[in-house]
Amino acid sequence: MEFETLSESEFERFRNLIYRLSGIRVQPTKQVLVANRLRRRLKETGIATYEAYYRFLNSPEGRTEVANFLDAITTNETYFFRDPTQFEWLGGPFLDALVSDVAHGRHPKSLRIWSAASSSGEELYTIATVLREHAGRLGGWRIDLLGTDLSGGVLESARAGQYDQRALRLVEPKRRANFFRNLPTDATKWEVVPELKKMTRWKKHNLMFPLAAEEPFDVIFLKNVLIYFDNDSKEKVLRNVLAALRPGGYLVVGPTDAVAKFLEGTTRERPWLFRK
Ligand SMILES: C[S@@+](CC[C@H](N)C(=O)[O-])C[C@H]1O[C@@H](n2cnc3c(N)ncnc32)[C@H](O)[C@@H]1O
Repeated sequence: MEFETLSESEFERFRNLIYRLSGIRVQPTKQVLVANRLRRRLKETGIATYEAYYRFLNSPEGRTEVANFLDAITTNETYFFRDPTQFEWLGGPFLDALVSDVAHGRHPKSLRIWSAASSSGEELYTIATVLREHAGRLGGWRIDLLGTDLSGGVLESARAGQYDQRALRLVEPKRRANFFRNLPTDATKWEVVPELKKMTRWKKHNLMFPLAAEEPFDVIFLKNVLIYFDNDSKEKVLRNVLAALRPGGYLVVGPTDAVAKFLEGTTRERPWLFRK
């Protein structure tokens, strides 16, 4: 099938729709990228033109396609132990202080962590790995690890827990041996062990809205997603996320996410670490 090019005005309409649905402000320079990603959806749905696809998305019959549309548009790049210093902090100073608080009766024997734009799960499984390595200090604790994302497709991958070599590039050999199994059916793929899967749960959630039905978290990871939002969306997202953090809890952002000005009421402890 031959596809027409995405015109300037159609691109603008899709940009506005993406913003309305997700808060993501697609840059005007991304016309070719958006056209390529939409083309995949046209192929998949058998719809011939961008114009007809736009109409379909806005019709009652197209409601289920909206999720696929957002899946195609979002950038899901992630990998295990991205920004290793942050996970050294988690297994080191953070856990030391929390274990001491528990020992002195200042905190219950529980730890709740939310990976708030989890993509296919590498971030949350990295957290699970670190906590497993400290299992000896966490005996009898209630550990609750939640991963959420706007995209249903990446959450399915997270639940399956199967990854290729690229995603594992920063995982040390000893960790790989302890927490991953090579797939018998595909030697290029690795699956996280059941004990890590059991520690995690996954939910679809749009960060533009408050997270409902969850107790406050001790730590929230919100990494490499804010770059897609404009200031209005950033403000909304950060308000929603901070509301889900307990007083004294930590927010971990990406090392290059510029967010300090939206985080009133927190103390900056490291360039990427804020305490409520
Ligand atoms: C680049 S990935 C970051 C993954 C991981 N946090 C990391 O740093 O490696 C960004 C993720 O944000 C998700 N996302 C984008 N807009 C969102 C929104 N409004 N609500 C929830 N997730 C969103 C995308 O689907 C994508 O999986």
